[in-house]
Amino acid sequence: MNLLEVNNLHTYFDTDAGVIKAVDGVSFSVKAGRTLGIVGESGSGKSVTAMSVIRLLDYPGKIMSGEVLYQGEDLVKVSEARMRSMRGNDISVIFQEPMTSLNPVFKIKKQLNEAIILHQNVSKDEATKISLKMLEAVKLEDPKALIEKYPHQLSGGMRQRVMIAMALACEPSILIADEPTTALDVIIQADILQLMNDLKKDFNTSIIFISHDLGVVSQMADDVIVMINGKVVEQAPIRKLFENPIHPYTRTLISAFLRTDIDTDIDNLQVLDNYEKENEKFDFKNFKELRQADKDWIEIDTDHFVSVNLK
Ligand SMILES: Nc1ncnc2c1ncn2[C@@H]1O[C@H](COP(=O)(O)OP(=O)(O)OP(=O)(O)O)[C@@H](O)[C@H]1O
Ligand SMILES: [Mg+2]
Repeated sequence: MNLLEVNNLHTYFDTDAGVIKAVDGVSFSVKAGRTLGIVGESGSGKSVTAMSVIRLLDYPGKIMSGEVLYQGEDLVKVSEARMRSMRGNDISVIFQEPMTSLNPVFKIKKQLNEAIILHQNVSKDEATKISLKMLEAVKLEDPKALIEKYPHQLSGGMRQRVMIAMALACEPSILIADEPTTALDVIIQADILQLMNDLKKDFNTSIIFISHDLGVVSQMADDVIVMINGKVVEQAPIRKLFENPIHPYTRTLISAFLRTDIDTDIDNLQVLDNYEKENEKFDFKNFKELRQADKDWIEIDTDHFVSVNLK
């Protein structure tokens, strides 16, 4: 079942320098209890796509058209009050740098409790109990002592665990994780990824996992969308994407990932250069002819879609 269905979403920034089409006709779906990975180079529209889903766009970002159906309700159209009550409760977000989301002047306890009280009709004492339980769930030691600390007294990895605890405190059905481990060192990153996978099972949460690192996405995602220039070029279950990548951009990313001599960072110049070469080889014209008359997509295989629009 699709918990979230995004249809033909367009989000633009009308700036002095012109209109930036950050999200330019994006469609995807998130199934209950599964992780959707969004992968793509810097500026491809991953974050704006995710922020459009919960309508937390920086000025002057605006959803121009499209649908974001959450359990059948179109979030593009709901009131701001309704949206506010859904954030945290139904759909939560964790960001790359937890210091931007944690307030440095308040103790962890106050911040966690407030997030809980905002959405659940509980007393302060009950909120504290939930906070302690959540800190335990994210495997932080001595939650009672930790809850009395300020964010700067914690390490980066600990702060990210607190953020995950906060995001999951109201047991949302969808967790959006935007590069949640990029700022952490490799060992701590692996721990946090493992933790998220465990919590996904325990809480039966669906995750939208954003990363520019295909290696990380392959560890986390059940399904993947590959983005470039505000568009999705390919969507598939992770295995199918690796076994049979079709779009030249996906092929480039995967071959870079499989070759150990190339840094898997998508923004790597060699990757972009190889993409040019793959592009030249690919017969876009013939490929386009395979599509059904009114579709921008070709369904290569069950649940495996490739865009025909992109060169
Ligand atoms: N506040 C803003 N004002 C103007 N343009 C913006 C704003 N925020 C994002 N954009 C533009 O929207 C496009 C998509 O940005 P987005 O942040 O979604 O990229 P991303 O894929 O998340 O990249 P990264 O991997 O670097 O996080 C970019 O061209 C970016 O410049
Ligand atoms: Mg981003």
